[in-house]
Amino acid sequence: MEQRLTSTELGHAKLIFEQLVAVKRKTMLYPPKHPELVDAFQRLTEHLGKFLEKRPELTIAMHEADLFIGSELMMKESVTYKQFIRECEDIDVGGITFLKGLEQAELEAFVDCLCMDRRTLENEGGVTERLKANKVIHVVVASSSQAAENDEEDVEHHAAKEVYNSAVTAVTDIMNSVKVGQSVNVIKAEKTVNTLIDAIFGQQLNILGLTAIKSYDETTFYHSVNTCILSISLGGNLSLTHDKLAILGTAALLHDIGKVNVPVGITTKPGPLTPEEFDVMKRHTSEGAEILSDMRGMHRLSMIVAFEHHAGYDLKGYPELNDKQRPHLFSRIVQVCDSYDAGTSFRPFKGGKLPDQVLAEMIRQSGQAFDPVIMKAFVQTLSIYPVGSLVLLDSGDVAVVIKSNPKDLARPSVKVAIDEGGIKTDPKDAKVLDLVQRVGKGKPFKRSIIKVVDPWELGIDVVQFF
Ligand SMILES: [Fe+2]
Ligand SMILES: [Fe+2]
Repeated sequence: MEQRLTSTELGHAKLIFEQLVAVKRKTMLYPPKHPELVDAFQRLTEHLGKFLEKRPELTIAMHEADLFIGSELMMKESVTYKQFIRECEDIDVGGITFLKGLEQAELEAFVDCLCMDRRTLENEGGVTERLKANKVIHVVVASSSQAAENDEEDVEHHAAKEVYNSAVTAVTDIMNSVKVGQSVNVIKAEKTVNTLIDAIFGQQLNILGLTAIKSYDETTFYHSVNTCILSISLGGNLSLTHDKLAILGTAALLHDIGKVNVPVGITTKPGPLTPEEFDVMKRHTSEGAEILSDMRGMHRLSMIVAFEHHAGYDLKGYPELNDKQRPHLFSRIVQVCDSYDAGTSFRPFKGGKLPDQVLAEMIRQSGQAFDPVIMKAFVQTLSIYPVGSLVLLDSGDVAVVIKSNPKDLARPSVKVAIDEGGIKTDPKDAKVLDLVQRVGKGKPFKRSIIKVVDPWELGIDVVQFF
C-alpha cells in the first residue's frame, strides 16, 4: 500500500475520487465540450493540482471490491462506488496514481480510457499503452493482477519470517541442551538447514533480508542463524551442490556452539575485552569442536569449521594452525559471514558500524584476513547496499534497503523511513519503492540512491522495517 495521509488529506482525496467518478459518468452522458463536462474536468484538475502541491502523488487502489486511498481502506466508499470499482477491474485497472505535474488534457485522455470497453482497449494494447500513445505521463495505472502480486509479496514475507524464527528457535534449543548437558538431536539442526536452503533457493524467499534483524540480548542465537543464512547464500554463489550446502549450513549454524561455555558477561560485553577475557573467549573454538565431536552423526566438517573460523585466511588469527597452509574452504566461507554479521550486529551504542562500512573494511582486508575469491562472491551476494542499510534518495526520502537486486546492485528495493517532507513513517505501513522503476519506458529512473546515512543519527531503528 502507498502513502499514509492525514485526515484532512484523506477528506480531500475522497472528494477527488468522487469527482473522478462523476466526471466519468458525465463523459458517458454528455458530448465533448459540453459546459457541464468542461466544468467537471476543471474542478477535478484544480482539486488534484492542490492535493499534488503538498504530496508528490495520489494513489487510489481497487482490489477485490475494496477501495483504498493511500493506505486506507474506504469501507463506505467501497460499497457506494462498487460499480465504478467493478468497471475499473473489468478493464484491468487495479490502481490509479496521479503524479505532480498533471494537466487537464491528460486527465481527459485518462477518463476517456475509463469509458472504453475492455475489447477496444485490448485491441490498443491495454490502458497503459493507450495512455502512452496519448502522451499521458502523470497518470499511472496498475493492473488488477499487479495488485494481486503485491498481496503475494506479503504472504512471502510472512513465510520468510516464519522460516527465520523457527531457525532461531532450533538453534536456541540446541544451545540450551548443550548448556545443561542434554544430548543434541543432530537431525534437528540438519532439518533447519534444509528448510533454510529450500527457502533461499527453492521458494526464493527474501530470507537474506531478515539477517538485518538483530537482538542484542540473544546475539549468539540470531548471529548463528544469520551466519548460516549468509553462508548458504554465499555458498550458492560459489556454485556448491545442495549436499555441500547442507554440510556448510550446519557447520555455520553451530560454529559458535563453544560459546555456551563462555560466561555471558564476556560474550555480550559492549566494550573491548581485557587480555584475560579474550583468552577465555578464544577457547570457544576448541571447545566448540569438542562439543560437536561428542554429537552422534555430526559431520566432521562442522568440527573443523568450529575450530578454524577465527584462524584467518593468512593464519594470523586464532587458534594457530601449524600444519596447514590455509583453513578449510568452509571455514573461510563461515569466517567471512561470521565477521560481517558480528560487525553489523555490534550497535548497542553509537559508534557501531554501518553495513556498507563493515563491508568496505572487510574488502580492505581481502587477501589477508579474508580469502579474496570468497570476498568477491560475498560482495556479489550482499550487493553494494547491503540489506538493512539506510539510504538517502534523490527524491529526498530516507529509506531502508530491504531486498537487493542482483541484476542492478545500485537499485535495490527499499522501504521509506522518512518521507520527502521529513516526516517519519510508521514502519508497519512504510511504502515499498523499487528503485528500478522509471518515470516512463526509456525515461530516467524515478528515484536513485545518493548515499548511505547513519540510522542512529536519524533515530531510525531499521529492524522495525523487517
Ligand atoms: Fe566465533
Ligand atoms: Fe561467530
